[in-house]
Amino acid sequence: MNTDPQDATRIDEIADGIYRISTPVPPSAIPGGFSFNQYLVVDDAPLLHHTGLSRMFPAVRDAIATVLPVESLRYISFSHYEADECGSLNEFLQMAPQAEPLCSRIAKMVSVDDIALRPARALGDGEELSLGTHTVRWIDTPHLPHAWECGHLFETTTKTLFCGDLFTQGGHRHEPLTSDDILEPSEAMRGGLDYFSQTRQVTELAEKLAATSPRILACMHGSAWQGDGAALLRQLAKRLAA
Ligand SMILES: [Fe+2]
Ligand SMILES: [Fe+2]
Repeated sequence: MNTDPQDATRIDEIADGIYRISTPVPPSAIPGGFSFNQYLVVDDAPLLHHTGLSRMFPAVRDAIATVLPVESLRYISFSHYEADECGSLNEFLQMAPQAEPLCSRIAKMVSVDDIALRPARALGDGEELSLGTHTVRWIDTPHLPHAWECGHLFETTTKTLFCGDLFTQGGHRHEPLTSDDILEPSEAMRGGLDYFSQTRQVTELAEKLAATSPRILACMHGSAWQGDGAALLRQLAKRLAA
């Protein structure tokens, strides 16, 4: 969907067996520019976390195909039910006959089993699923940052937290993985467009995520981040509670 080769969809390994797929959207299409990321976990049971918007399907599919056969995908997981999280869920389910949607119990009950080609596999809070070498754990975080059914996946061997819309950075050109500050850029984004619900549970929910001591925060918009994830999540919680 981009003409500048610099702004093509790219795929980069950001942790052992974990790839970030990123599609930049220039300021001519979204004010200020933006980016949409998905994450691919390569394992016996390959997992795609987030699908991207349905109009991005060809680009995301082709990026995955440079790493593994799209037909081999086993799980299509997502934080909550929105178009950039799961807009091309059915396109992937169609291509990958073994694939199941993977989401929270609320998402399955409220939306996913109604719209998906196949029933979802729901994970309860704290429930783990082995993919082979990697293991993912579901963490319920209702309304953090938004949506009743919201939660986040944590990969236990690389300590990667797929933190979805948390730490959303504006702009369309980002390094795949950075150690630079992402809190202030994401707070600037929130200042202009507050995409967080006003949940009173913010401190407790952020603490659930911090308790995993993530080493990588796999953001959905902007760079993935490497560092003391627990400390950064606690800083975010303070800002949100202020
Ligand atoms: Fe969202
Ligand atoms: Fe998002």
